[in-house]
Amino acid sequence: MQRTLSILKPDVTRRNLTGAVNGRIESAGLRIIAQRRIHLSLEQAQQFYAVHQERSFFNDLCTFMSSGPVVVQVLQGENAVEQYRKIMGATNPANADEGTIRRDFAESIEANSVHGSDSFENAGIEIAFFFSQMDIVG
Ligand code: RTP
Ligand code: MG
Repeated sequence: MQRTLSILKPDVTRRNLTGAVNGRIESAGLRIIAQRRIHLSLEQAQQFYAVHQERSFFNDLCTFMSSGPVVVQVLQGENAVEQYRKIMGATNPANADEGTIRRDFAESIEANSVHGSDSFENAGIEIAFFFSQMDIVG
């Protein structure tokens, strides 16, 4: 069993798609073992995405991620990090496989509906950014 951090981005909450995306997650066999709806400040978004601070899209990304509510989640399942990346689809929805969350829901390369940790190591760091042990009920 593995855990990964998921974020349903502001384009999802704005269009009232939280349940629809959660349905995709659960249908894929991943369990939502912690979940909270929050509104990130610009500073919190910058802290979370600090690894991207040299990238050209950093400012736009942080502005977008703090533009409305997000839903932060811990997902658990077999091979959860890779499994979630698979059902999320490619970063750019135009390149995402059919049936993936981003292909079906994303608005653009930036407003691409979901975040998922990209490695086991980062999953641990990202989960600890948002959740304490007491919040996670596996
Ligand atoms: P994420 O971290 O959100 O799960 O997405 P990812 O691994 O597929 O993509 P990453 O390279 O980590 O980029 C993080 C997020 O930045 C936005 N982005 N915008 N305008 C652009 O060219 C661009 N490229 C990336 C996306 O919201 C992406 O998910
Ligand atoms: Mg990433």
